[in-house]
Amino acid sequence: MPTVAIVGASRGIGLGLVERYAEKGWRVHATTRTPGEPGALGTVAGDVVVHGLEVTDASGRRAFRDALGDEAIDVLIHNAGVYGDGMSAAEVNRINAEAPIETAEVLMNAVVRSEQRKIALITSTMGARRGSRRGLGKYGESKAALNDRFRTLADGWRKRGCLAVVIHPGWVRTDMGGRNATLSVVESAHGIYDVMADLDESRHGRFWNWDGREHPW
Ligand SMILES: NC(=O)c1ccc[n+]([C@@H]2O[C@H](COP(=O)([O-])OP(=O)(O)OC[C@H]3O[C@@H](n4cnc5c(N)ncnc54)[C@H](OP(=O)(O)O)[C@@H]3O)[C@@H](O)[C@H]2O)c1
Repeated sequence: MPTVAIVGASRGIGLGLVERYAEKGWRVHATTRTPGEPGALGTVAGDVVVHGLEVTDASGRRAFRDALGDEAIDVLIHNAGVYGDGMSAAEVNRINAEAPIETAEVLMNAVVRSEQRKIALITSTMGARRGSRRGLGKYGESKAALNDRFRTLADGWRKRGCLAVVIHPGWVRTDMGGRNATLSVVESAHGIYDVMADLDESRHGRFWNWDGREHPW
């Protein structure tokens, strides 16, 4: 079976993605900041390996890569993110805009040696600049910065052999999305799983919704 790495899997959408891939029989490498207390992540049935990773820590990212050894990663999903209450714009940017790119870069060789060679960075509709008349706020700005950076790198990643996209997971009932959100974690995770399954050359480098519709930048 293929292998997926899910970065930021302790709860919410990341945990839902671990459950989805594991139930489909994939081998799953899942990261959490608290590997000693994995909580629900530690109880997911299937071939799930839990790793510790604080995504802003460059040495931690390299240690995660080294822990994978020669294993190939068919699908890499960088899901970790913060809304940023009480954080500076720079901190939010480090987590939401810089870490996803740096994680993808450090794990790219593991992705390139796989069969599927796919990468998704979880972004947000709040990072879409089109149509926004007011400022995006520090969360939206961080996701817009992620999208901008992704667009400048996507061609190079393709040349290195990867298919990569950014995905809006929908408005999801998690700690971040709140209880009034329209989607369950299961609906979002199943949708993201399907978007990744459908990812091919023609879909590379673009911004997708959880439900497979293209999202404007
Ligand atoms: N929920 C929504 O409606 C919605 C909408 C659009 C986009 N998104 C995006 O979807 C992704 C997941 O959101 P969610 O709703 O599942 O959020 P969540 O419930 O708040 O979970 C966030 C996840 O990111 C991890 N994380 C945060 N900062 C991290 C760091 N510095 N290092 C490592 N892990 C870190 C958290 O780990 P800890 O448990 O250690 O904090 C947790 O696993 C995010 O990128 C978010 O921006 C969500």
